[in-house]
Amino acid sequence: MASCAVFASGNGSNLQALVDRLSATSHAIRCLVCDNRQAYAIHRAEASGIPVVPVSYRDRSREEAEASIRAALAASEPDILVLAGFMRLLSPAFVDAFAMRIVNIHPALLPRHPGTHGIEDSWAAGDSELGVTIHYVDHGMDTGPIILQKSFTREAHDTLESVTRKIHELEHEHYPKVVQALLDDVDRKRGERA
Ligand code: GRF
Repeated sequence: MASCAVFASGNGSNLQALVDRLSATSHAIRCLVCDNRQAYAIHRAEASGIPVVPVSYRDRSREEAEASIRAALAASEPDILVLAGFMRLLSPAFVDAFAMRIVNIHPALLPRHPGTHGIEDSWAAGDSELGVTIHYVDHGMDTGPIILQKSFTREAHDTLESVTRKIHELEHEHYPKVVQALLDDVDRKRGERA
């Protein structure tokens, strides 16, 4: 059985999609790492019996915050870390400690529109193709190796609201599938080594 930890800061709809899909598998979500005490993601985790690791970035350095995350992860030993709307940039040292074991979802077709406003930026740029990117995390902001991209063509009647909905639908459909495939791969490699 492989496992992951999910990192989120807000609504947690991607966390929910992961919970819904992985609950039908042998894989586990060990914990939710959350830097925002008001995040609705916390309610979703609690409703699913997933332990919450609250982490404060206030009045201390990023390295101190990450040390507390690493202590929690050392206890639960997840195979992969799944960023799902986590609004903090992880330090190079943290990324190196989990090299090629951290994945992220971004609501735009990278390398276009990195950063915190991927949907709005894609819309405002007038892009004819919009979509999502699932990628490994490296030292940059939304720059790591791409695992999967899914897109759709902007239609004449689309609005920012309609493309936002379509992007979230793509996220909720594909992120859980990719995470499940990565966890399946962990199991398969363990089996090969056994
Ligand atoms: C998603 O759009 C994701 O692509 C981005 O942050 C958003 C998180 O949404 N990284 P939610 O908290 O999962 O609802």
